[in-house]
Amino acid sequence: MTAPLKFSKMITETELAKRVKELGAEITEIARKEPVIAVCILKGSFIFFSDLVRHIEADIATEFLGTASYGNSMKSSGEVKLTLDLTNSIEGKTVILIEDIIDTGLTMDFLTKTLAARKPKRLLTCSLLFKPEALKTSFKPDYVGFKIPNDFVIGYGLDYQGFYRNLPYIARVESLQ
Ligand code: IMP
Repeated sequence: MTAPLKFSKMITETELAKRVKELGAEITEIARKEPVIAVCILKGSFIFFSDLVRHIEADIATEFLGTASYGNSMKSSGEVKLTLDLTNSIEGKTVILIEDIIDTGLTMDFLTKTLAARKPKRLLTCSLLFKPEALKTSFKPDYVGFKIPNDFVIGYGLDYQGFYRNLPYIARVESLQ
């Protein structure tokens, strides 16, 4: 186990459930008009994705994409690696990338450029959390759950050194003990 962290609740279970339901309703509107492939960006989005897709009241296909994360640091390495690729072609399809958090924007910048080369009809992006102050690219998500300050957060899928993903709420890390 990693060194214990001091953290405080930032977004409660109730707030998360309400906002995820709203995002699901917005994506439902798109998915009722055209076939949609919802892509879970692993690992951090797995909880958000599984809650979100259950609020999409239309037929959607689901896919999974792996990206390398921060490793054991709280700062972005600036390097993005694809660790798991999609299993089906997205050519001519409407794709929604589901991300846990946009910090520097490097991951989504890389992913949208990589996937755009595969000629989808439309490439949309949805992130549960967005830190506008940390952005180092011009990337802007189409759907955002919560804009948050430039703090390191854990829980609801987000980790610190592989731990804390199972916290049912989003917490702000205060300091390392
Ligand atoms: P970006 O490329 O800097 O936008 O960062 C994207 C990835 O970094 C996310 O998918 C997360 O895996 C990780 N990340 C960024 N900020 C945080 C945070 O506050 N807590 C946990 N992981 C984070």
